[in-house]
Amino acid sequence: MAEKFHSFGRMLYGGDYNPEQWLDHPEILKKDIEMMKEAQINVVSLGIFSWSAIEPEEGRYRFDWMEERINTLHENGISVFLATPSGSRPRWMAEKYPEIRRTDPFGRRGLYGGRHNHCYTSPVYRREVRRINMELARRFGDHPGVIAWHISNEYGGECYCPLCQAEFRGWLKKKYGTIEELNRRWYTSFWSHEYNNFDQVEAPSPMGDSCVNGLNLDWKRFVTDRTADFARWEIQALRDAGSEKPATVNMMYYFDGLNYHKFADVVDFISWDSYPSWHNGPEYATAMDTAMYHDLMRSIQKKPFFLMESCPSATNWQPVSKLKRPGMLEAASLQAVAHGADSVQYFQIRQGRGCSEKFHGAVIDHYGGNDTRVFREVKRTGADLQLLSDLAGSDVRARTAVVYDWESRWAMEDAQGPRNVGLHHKDTVQKSYIALRKAGFDVDVIDMEQPLDDYQVLAVPMAYMFRAGFEEKLRAYVARGGILFMTYWSGIADETDLCFLGGTPHGLMDVLGLRHEEIDALYDGEKNSAVPVKGNPLGLTRSYSCENLCDLVKVTDAQVLFTYGEDFYAGEPAFTCHSWGEGKAYYICGDMEQAFYDDVYAAVMEQSGILPAIPGLRIPEGVEVSTRESDTAVYVFIQNFGREEAVLDLPGDLELIFGESREKLPVYGTMVLAGKKQSQEI
Ligand code: GLA
Ligand code: ZN
Repeated sequence: MAEKFHSFGRMLYGGDYNPEQWLDHPEILKKDIEMMKEAQINVVSLGIFSWSAIEPEEGRYRFDWMEERINTLHENGISVFLATPSGSRPRWMAEKYPEIRRTDPFGRRGLYGGRHNHCYTSPVYRREVRRINMELARRFGDHPGVIAWHISNEYGGECYCPLCQAEFRGWLKKKYGTIEELNRRWYTSFWSHEYNNFDQVEAPSPMGDSCVNGLNLDWKRFVTDRTADFARWEIQALRDAGSEKPATVNMMYYFDGLNYHKFADVVDFISWDSYPSWHNGPEYATAMDTAMYHDLMRSIQKKPFFLMESCPSATNWQPVSKLKRPGMLEAASLQAVAHGADSVQYFQIRQGRGCSEKFHGAVIDHYGGNDTRVFREVKRTGADLQLLSDLAGSDVRARTAVVYDWESRWAMEDAQGPRNVGLHHKDTVQKSYIALRKAGFDVDVIDMEQPLDDYQVLAVPMAYMFRAGFEEKLRAYVARGGILFMTYWSGIADETDLCFLGGTPHGLMDVLGLRHEEIDALYDGEKNSAVPVKGNPLGLTRSYSCENLCDLVKVTDAQVLFTYGEDFYAGEPAFTCHSWGEGKAYYICGDMEQAFYDDVYAAVMEQSGILPAIPGLRIPEGVEVSTRESDTAVYVFIQNFGREEAVLDLPGDLELIFGESREKLPVYGTMVLAGKKQSQEI
C-alpha cells in the first residue's frame, strides 16, 4: 500500500469532527452539514477519541450514530477520514485492565485520565485495539464515504512498565548480540557501569541511569520502533478485516519524541498538525519556521502530504493565543498547499462546550452562525482550494536540501559539551534553509538515511552524529559534483555516540581540506566576527557577526574565504572552500548571522549557474516563492508574509491562475502562476 498511494486526485478541505458530543442536539448536527457545505468542506476526520461512544461497555457496540453520520456526510458530498480510537481508551477498560495504563520513569502506574497514555506493549491493549479496529473496518471499511484511515492521534510518549522494559532488553539483544558488544558500544567502563547480562539493563530514569549516552539514544530509538510497531499493528487489524484504504498518522511540529522518518514505510501518506504562533514577531520568520516543517513532512515520503490539523482562529493552549489577523488563515493554509499539501484541515469543525478545549478555535463557534469573521475566512479558503483542486497530486521536486536528522539531534542534545544551554541546532539548520528560500529555491528537509541523488546543493548543519555510512554518501555526493555546506560540530560521534578518533569531521577531512581542532563556546551576548579575505572568489566584501560556537580548524588545502575578526584566534579561518572530485565542499566554522548565509548561498548559486524556479526574479523582503510540479505543468506560488505590499517584476511566460495581479501582492496575499513543462513544449 505504502508505495501505491499518491493522491486523492482533488484538494481536501475539512477538519476534526466530533458529533458524538452533540448526539442529543439533532438540530446542531443538521446545521453542521449545512455550514460545512457552505464552506465547501469535503472531508472530516471522524471518530478520534470516540471509543466510549462506540463501545460504552465491554463488547456492547453502538455504531448507529456513526453510521448515520457517515451516511449523511456522504450524501452531502463530505468524505470521511475514519479514525481508530486508540488515542484515548474508555474508563471501563482502564479499570478492568490496569496494565494498559502507562508507567512513568519512576515506576508509577498512571491513573485513568487524559489521553495518549497507554502502554504500547501491553498484549491486552493491543488485543483491544485490534478488536475495535476490526469492528470499524468490517462496518465501514468498504463505505464509499470513507476514503482513508486516521490512525489514533498524535502518537507520543513512553512507557516504563515491566513489559516495555523486557521488550527493550530483547531489542538490545537483537541489536548487539552479546553483552560485551553492548558494553563496548555504550562505553560502560566509564564510572563502573558495565553490564554482566542483558537482564540488568533498565531504561534511562532520573532515579537511575541517565549518564550513559548510548543507553539514552537507544531508548529513544526503541520508543520510536515500539510506536511504529504499534501503528503497524493498528493498520494490520484494518487490513485483516478487509480494508485496503490508505492510512496515515498525524504528526507534530518540532516533536522530539519520535523519529518520524521511521513511519515512512508504515503509513500510506504523511499528515501533520500545524499551529504556528502567528504575529509573535515578524510573520516572515514564522512563515519560514512553518515552511521548513511542511518541507520536512513532505520529504519523509517525497510526495504530497496532508495538513491534518490547523486552527481556523486561535488555539487555547499557547501561552498567548492571539487571533490570526484578517487574511492570515488564507495565507497560512495556502502556504501548506504551496509546499506540497493536498489538504487543509482544521481542529475542529465545531467548538466543544465543555472540558479543556472549549475555547479552542473552530470553524463553527459557540454562537453557531455563519456571520462571523472566522467563518467568512474559512469559506474563502474553501473557495481557494476549489480553484486549486487540479494541483492535487503534483509534487515538489527540490534540487536543494538541508539535513535535519532526528537521531543526530537526540545525541547532540544529550551530550554534555561546549554549550549545554542554547546549541541553536534548529536555528542553524534554518539559516541555510531560509537562505536557500530567499534565493528562490525549493528545499527538501531530509535525514541521513535518505538518498542524495536529487540534489545539487546540500546543507549539513551541526550534523554531530554521523549515522553509519553517512560520510561515504557525502563523499560520493561531492565527488559527482555536488555542492556541500557543512558547519561546525559535525561528524563528531558515531551511531552509539562514541567519539571518532583520528580527527573530525569524520571521514571528510580530505574532502573539506581541513581538520577541526578545538571549539570555542561564547557566553550569551558575546560576539566574534567573520572578515572576508580580500579578493575571495565569491566576491564577498562585508564582515558578519557570529556567536555561540566558533570552530578552530587546521586547514590542509582548503581555501580560506573568511577569517575570524577577534579574540586569540583572530585571523584564523572562519569559512573555507575546497574543490574535491567534481564538487565543492564549504565549511562554516562559526554560528554566523543570517545575512552571511543569505549572501554566501546567493553568491554560490549564481557562480555555479544553479537556477531557481523564476531565474532573475528579485524576491522582495518577506515574500516566499515555492513550486509544485506535475509531469506536464509547473505551478509557482508567490506569497507575501512581509508587512508591506510587494511589487514584482515577473517574466511573461507564466500564466496567473490564482490572485488578482501579477505585479502587486498585498500583505498575506497569494498568487499562483502556471507554466507548461519545457519538455512538453518541444
Ligand atoms: C492536537 C490534537 C487535537 C487537539 C489540538 C488542539 O493537534 O491532535 O486533538 O487537541 O491539538 O490544538
Ligand atoms: Zn508499557
